Amino acid sequence: MTDKTDIANLDKKWILHPFTPIAEWEQDTPVVIVRGEGSRIVDDRGNSYLDGTSSLWVNLLGHRQPEIDRAIRKQLDRIAHTTFLGLTHEGAVLLAEELAHHAPKGLDRVFYSDNGSTAVEIALKLSWLLRRKDHPGASRFFSLDRAYHGDTLGAVGVGGIERFHSPFLPLAKESLKAPAPDCFRCPLGLIRERCSIDCADVAISAIRQHAPDLAGVILEPRLQAAGGMIVWPEGYLSRVAEAVQGLEIPLILDEVATGFGRTGAFFACQLENVTPDFLCVGKGLTGGYLPLAATLFSDHTYHRLREDPGIIYHGHSYTANPLAVAAARATLRALSDGEYIPAIVRKRNIFSRMERQLKALPQIDNVRSIGLVFAFDIFPDPGRKIPAERNLMTLIEKQAQSRGLIIRPLRNTLYLIPPLSVSDNELSDMGDILLASVRKAFRSG
Ligand SMILES: Cc1ncc(COP(=O)(O)O)c(C=O)c1O
Repeated sequence: MTDKTDIANLDKKWILHPFTPIAEWEQDTPVVIVRGEGSRIVDDRGNSYLDGTSSLWVNLLGHRQPEIDRAIRKQLDRIAHTTFLGLTHEGAVLLAEELAHHAPKGLDRVFYSDNGSTAVEIALKLSWLLRRKDHPGASRFFSLDRAYHGDTLGAVGVGGIERFHSPFLPLAKESLKAPAPDCFRCPLGLIRERCSIDCADVAISAIRQHAPDLAGVILEPRLQAAGGMIVWPEGYLSRVAEAVQGLEIPLILDEVATGFGRTGAFFACQLENVTPDFLCVGKGLTGGYLPLAATLFSDHTYHRLREDPGIIYHGHSYTANPLAVAAARATLRALSDGEYIPAIVRKRNIFSRMERQLKALPQIDNVRSIGLVFAFDIFPDPGRKIPAERNLMTLIEKQAQSRGLIIRPLRNTLYLIPPLSVSDNELSDMGDILLASVRKAFRSG
């Protein structure tokens, strides 16, 4: 039997972790997670933590959700996996129908894959296949600064986070970009009251200028999560979408982070009545249990692709994995039955209280939220708006961990994205711990 310290040491011997500074990881004592329940995860020493990031935005209805557990077990008694190349299965067909039911009207065809990046790759490829028919030279995409659409090379090309994407950009095809509509760090110096209009106009005029070259426009509707929890001003999405679709350029909305209720609507694009040409979903689709993603589009698009090229040379070994599909169907059922999305309005009162408390700290600014996502920025010297350095953010993260909350700062931004099933008390506790951790870091910093 391997003991607790062995696991930590063996990890360092055998594993390279994603998005984790290697030398820091070697110095650290890793937290070894052994189980979870609801909003909590528990380590091998018996410490229990509130999961403040929903395990990086995937867990939707809590850990060990009974209906999802049951659905996976039931599927295991039938079959774990067969290929989806040339075969099909009941769960995948019914899930496609259920996804179409929840999506904006008209998105009634589904192409499955197994993570957010691949859902985006497929959208990029299909978008280009459509567009090249009338515009053979149109092979560039348009996206936003600080966009995050995943780590595969197509997704890197449309990505806009300097430190994540620039190392691999020589391997990818870089998109054309407009500034992100970030009201707090406005790159255009716009007046707040008009910002959604003026900011959208900047993107629209760039899109118009390059329209003949564009194979598609890809956006994260209403919330650019990895880019720093940028909450868009209302109206920006619908204005840009209208212009893009008016130019007959395919519009791809990446709802990998925002889908399944996180922003207060089933899909964020529904907040502004936008129906994209391609809708990418992943993460919360299986309740955070198993890797599954989907790219949705219209029947009209399906028929155009049927004509030409007639076959899509893209797919993955685990496409439409039956266990993941069973988890997804149980998640959608529980999400629809459980009043989770309507309850967000009430839970947001807790955010209002958190905002009032945080605003009393001079080092905190840019408090923002959408749906069940809450974020703010840290500026150690309140007089000068210089973003906090990594060591301070790590100190806050460790403080939170020692008090029983898992968070993961994004540069100088702290955020909470709890599972939608979080109780009011748990959400209040998350806010209290976050506040205490920031206070403590400033006392000791
Ligand atoms: C908006 C968005 N798109 C795509 C991805 C990539 O998803 P995955 O990590 O499952 O490949 C992410 C991941 O954070 C995301 O937030």
